[in-house]
Amino acid sequence: MPILYSPENQVFHLQNDRISYIIRLVAGKYPIHQYWGKKVRAIHADVMERCCNQQEEGFTLHELPLDTLPQECPVFGCGDMRQGMLEVRQADGSSALDLCYDSHEILKGKPALKGLPSARGEEAETLVLRLRDEHSGVAVELSYSVYPDIDVIARNMRVVNDGEQAVVLERALSACVDLENTHTQLTTLSGAWARERQMVTRPLVPGHQGVESVRGASSHQACPFMALGKSTVTEDEGEVYALSLCYSGSFWADVFVDCNDMARAQIGIQPFQFSWELKPGDSFQTPEAYLCYSANGLNGMSREFHHLCGRYITRGKYAHASRPLLVNNWEATYFDFNEDKLLELAACAKDVGIDLFVLDDGWFGHRDVDNSSLGDWVDDRRKLPNGLRGLSDKIHGLGLKFGLWFEPEMISPDSDLYRAHPDWCIHIPGRMQVESRHQLVLDLSRKEVREYIIDAVSAAMERGNVDYVKWDMNRNMNMLHSDGLDSAHQKELNHRYILGLYEILEAVTSRFPDVLFESCAGGGGRFDFGMMHYMPQAWCSDDTDAFMRCRIQYGTSMVFPVSTMGAHVSAVPNHQMGRSTPLATRAAVAMGGTYGYELDLTRLPKEELDEIRRLNEKVKALQPLLLYGEFYRLCSPFEGNKTAFMSVSEDRCEAVVTHVYGPAEPNRQPVLLPLRGLDAEKEYRDVESGRVYGGDELMTHGLTIPRAWGDYMATQFHLVAVD
Ligand code: GLA
Repeated sequence: MPILYSPENQVFHLQNDRISYIIRLVAGKYPIHQYWGKKVRAIHADVMERCCNQQEEGFTLHELPLDTLPQECPVFGCGDMRQGMLEVRQADGSSALDLCYDSHEILKGKPALKGLPSARGEEAETLVLRLRDEHSGVAVELSYSVYPDIDVIARNMRVVNDGEQAVVLERALSACVDLENTHTQLTTLSGAWARERQMVTRPLVPGHQGVESVRGASSHQACPFMALGKSTVTEDEGEVYALSLCYSGSFWADVFVDCNDMARAQIGIQPFQFSWELKPGDSFQTPEAYLCYSANGLNGMSREFHHLCGRYITRGKYAHASRPLLVNNWEATYFDFNEDKLLELAACAKDVGIDLFVLDDGWFGHRDVDNSSLGDWVDDRRKLPNGLRGLSDKIHGLGLKFGLWFEPEMISPDSDLYRAHPDWCIHIPGRMQVESRHQLVLDLSRKEVREYIIDAVSAAMERGNVDYVKWDMNRNMNMLHSDGLDSAHQKELNHRYILGLYEILEAVTSRFPDVLFESCAGGGGRFDFGMMHYMPQAWCSDDTDAFMRCRIQYGTSMVFPVSTMGAHVSAVPNHQMGRSTPLATRAAVAMGGTYGYELDLTRLPKEELDEIRRLNEKVKALQPLLLYGEFYRLCSPFEGNKTAFMSVSEDRCEAVVTHVYGPAEPNRQPVLLPLRGLDAEKEYRDVESGRVYGGDELMTHGLTIPRAWGDYMATQFHLVAVD
């Protein structure tokens, strides 16, 4: 039984074969977080003893030491002096809540969240704990789902106004865990455009620390993820407690270390600039948070998140399938193309074994630079005299699939759409508009805007008979105001935008179930489980430099599997930073994601095209292993001059190992690289050299990586078990 309830001890024990999560009701009222970690049979210790060291025995129910108790749903105001999960402004202006146990239910499976993406869970079991504040009538449902096969607890909260007066939510987070004082460091993923998800590890200190976004997107700058552990945690050893969120908008992920060294870790919708009115009878659903426990370091944590994503979050035809090798014309032509140029590129792509041709920005309206036409999803007949359909027919005629770029959430002030509906963008009437990349954000909280997007995108997809869509989003939100909301509800806009986005994504992806969707936000500016629910892959970064990509993909792999990371071979010198790296290295790094090209193939010499043809054959042969094998990080680009990672097949009979050097250093010995995840008892043959090694040898002594001769050299090994 994954969830056991003991009425006499008032204990809920969520468990699978490896983990336990234990909640206990104290004084019959408050759900207290008693334990989370390695599987135990039971916890007998009295949580109250631990927390009452400064309080004398004999306190009354109203004197419970809430300020020292680890709580499942803490609220500031009735004794707890820390920031809590929920803040509700009531009719009298106060916001204290005394949330007490009301009832509970244990469900088979895991209900989907209304209007929000969430993980499937037919095999899961779910505890719903109902709490209620008698004074205001505010009620809360805390849901916890436990899976048999992954060490993740999925949590969410639903707030219901059962009272007689309207209330306003000013904070409604998805999860909170009060952890014992054994955690000493915090790892997060921070960055910027073109250098997303860089690993940052810092010591935990008293006070607040964490990551957040206020940009209306999960953002390039921060990823909705944080991991706590001891300073001794490594990639393979030590206990890690991680939180992540299935949400694509502004978020808050925070750890507060109090005077007793208790670490309160919380994650959810960003409370800054948020409020939500609940009239009597209304409810509010928070996004889903994932709590991951790993006894096997950061690598162990990542594999749990990867399984969560692959088995339960991504959906549709491509969730577990091979992905077409693509060529995208963006860095090949930018806006400067016509049908002939595209067909020349497509023919060359076909010749080297590419499967999918993607037409990027600039095919619509009159968009010759990035200052016009977003919103006008009509074919530009100057560039495409036969329209999208004419081009698409010819691309299909070459034996390629056809893909198309959109940026549906945006509007250019120079567009017919803007001229017809100047009020459809997010703006403050009477104030100057703040543009970014010459564009404004459409107000997805409005039904007519959502309908327009669904219709316009669907029509272009049908016209172009497309097989793939790149769904881009190139600016963040400011000047927040919606003409569709009255002044009291303007702080609902951020979340209403994301709900509107999810409604659109649900409509478009279910209307085109055979199309492969790739999300993008100026590269990796919205790389989160929310987007992964609708689109199984996302463009990882606009930075295609192989060396920089080692860091970006390494950081991304903390949470997201290889099959989600769009990664392309691009031209040298690299367009974002001018660096030149060998073709073999660019390809080896792109094989750490969903593989493609982003360069003008027609300009490459024959030898490079021949090499690309060979590379494509290799990628196709290895794709199931590369995309869906168990992924292990072996060597961190954040700690030195080398990156290494490997994928191992489920039966541990096959593995691909990739090692990439940074700038060459003179007088260095060849490196020994211990591998992971193999079968110690098996022998493995390196397909290229024919040399045979023992699995035990490879995981202890390691593989010998040749010395680098030249900068940014990559080596790949394909190991196959010998019978
Ligand atoms: C964004 C994307 C790029 C490209 C351009 C087109 O920057 O990340 O890949 O599609 O937009 O304008």
